[in-house]
Amino acid sequence: ANQIAKAIEKKRQAAILGGGQARIDAQHAKGKLTARERLDLLLDPNSFREYDAFVEHQCVDFGMEKNKITGDGVVTGVGKIHNQPVYVFSQDFTSFGGSLSKTFAQKICKIMDKALLVGAPVIGLNDSGGARIQEGVDSLAGYAEIFQKNVLASGVIPQISMIMGPCAGGAVYSPALTDFVFMVKHTSYLFVTGPDVVKTVTKEEITQEELGGAKVHTSKSGVAHNAFENDIEAIYNLREFMTYLPQSNRSSPPQKYTSDPHDRADDALDTLVPLDSTKPYDIKTVITRVVDEGKFFEIMPDYAKNIVIGFARLGGSSVGIVANQPLVSSGVLDINSSIKAARFVRFCDAFNIPIITFVDVPGFLPGSYQEHNGIIREGAKLLFAYAECTVPKITIITRKAYGGAYDVMSSKHLRGDINYAWPTAEIAVMGAKGAVEIIFRKIKDRSQAEAEYIDKFANPLPAAQRGFLDDIITPSSTRSRIIEDLEILKSKKLSNPWRKHSNMPL
Ligand code: COA
Repeated sequence: ANQIAKAIEKKRQAAILGGGQARIDAQHAKGKLTARERLDLLLDPNSFREYDAFVEHQCVDFGMEKNKITGDGVVTGVGKIHNQPVYVFSQDFTSFGGSLSKTFAQKICKIMDKALLVGAPVIGLNDSGGARIQEGVDSLAGYAEIFQKNVLASGVIPQISMIMGPCAGGAVYSPALTDFVFMVKHTSYLFVTGPDVVKTVTKEEITQEELGGAKVHTSKSGVAHNAFENDIEAIYNLREFMTYLPQSNRSSPPQKYTSDPHDRADDALDTLVPLDSTKPYDIKTVITRVVDEGKFFEIMPDYAKNIVIGFARLGGSSVGIVANQPLVSSGVLDINSSIKAARFVRFCDAFNIPIITFVDVPGFLPGSYQEHNGIIREGAKLLFAYAECTVPKITIITRKAYGGAYDVMSSKHLRGDINYAWPTAEIAVMGAKGAVEIIFRKIKDRSQAEAEYIDKFANPLPAAQRGFLDDIITPSSTRSRIIEDLEILKSKKLSNPWRKHSNMPL
């Protein structure tokens, strides 16, 4: 018995060491932490329960039967973040380059199944050389089994991917199917085919960083939702991020104690919006002044900056924020901003997180680039997302709400629960100058018509008179009004007609 105990302990130690000290040192030399160090930082102290530490691959080709690493390249299990259970896997680059074998995939599938059973999030820390080349199609099968589970878990439990090293080829599609993809700057990259293949096929010469580094994916492709300086900062932010998410689609969003008074009036908001409606202001100032403790966890801060999305708390309860950003292209809606906000609205809706929308939008961006690339289809995504969504929806029009974009941005007509305007709101088909140029084309001096148009539409009264706004509120009272509304809307019950699934424009 002593012999067995020793053998067990030896295997356990081997699993902890992964690919060995030399490879651990190499990992550190790249500025990266090991799979286990990352989990130590991510999870509450002493909360990690590892599963399958003894698993070894079953491959017998290319001499692999003599080359086994206990744990087989991925550390899996359950732990807690701020006392909430989460299932985790952490790919170990020191062990076969973190490459995915059949047993590696089975380990991941096992924790995904458990997460679905109990209703808890799955976090994947990715750092892998891709499919275990020695295992051939077994490894490809492993990926597909994970993909299938990602899809079935989508909208049931939150799935979060942190990319902390290479993630290439088929490996990219599991993160792509998850709700949020975060990256570490300079040490992580994501691409379907690497620079060598790119060069062979297209003759294009490009570095890993230029092809699929954090900068590209957070500012250009929109594949990743944010990037952080290094492993430590990334994991710190991930822990923070998790405080906004519910455990599953069966749970309410988490509540957190706040010392920020519910009825805190913020007088600075009353003069924040410039009276000249061509002058910009930062919508993030509005957001941070309204939410609890000024804390706003922004998502995709560097992509389609004309719309701002992210999580915050109001009265201690998580909310999703969507806001046009007048600082960037006057907050116009275009293809990228529509897609960015649409996916976020759908995440919030799937996980019972109320949506607060701040509107200051001059319309959709005109031009052949937008039309030819399908702004009709892409803009429809955001419209679809808001219209389909059944969580509490509160809208505040701070200034412009023009044209079709007025309808799209969580308007009353799309089942908005509470729709407010600030006194500075202008709700019309378009701005006064453009409108008057069209309807009074033949008249030379249009200044009087323009003044009349401004008088008529550059204020919130016409919309309020029709009941399209529930009230016109002083900006300083925004926080207390929203918190009151959220409290009442907690018992909101609304569902859509039965269907297999909707057919949103993709
Ligand atoms: N299958 C099996 N082993 C792999 C592997 C894979 N897909 N990817 C990496 N490894 C192994 C390497 O053989 C090496 O083993 P060793 O430590 O025993 O020498 C170890 O992992 C580290 O890889 P290395 O290439 O030395 O690391 P690197 O940081 O220089 O490069 C990659 C990392 C990912 C760029 C490189 O390993 C690579 O190109 N891997 C193959 C990627 C691929 O095409 N995958 C299949 C497509 S899905």
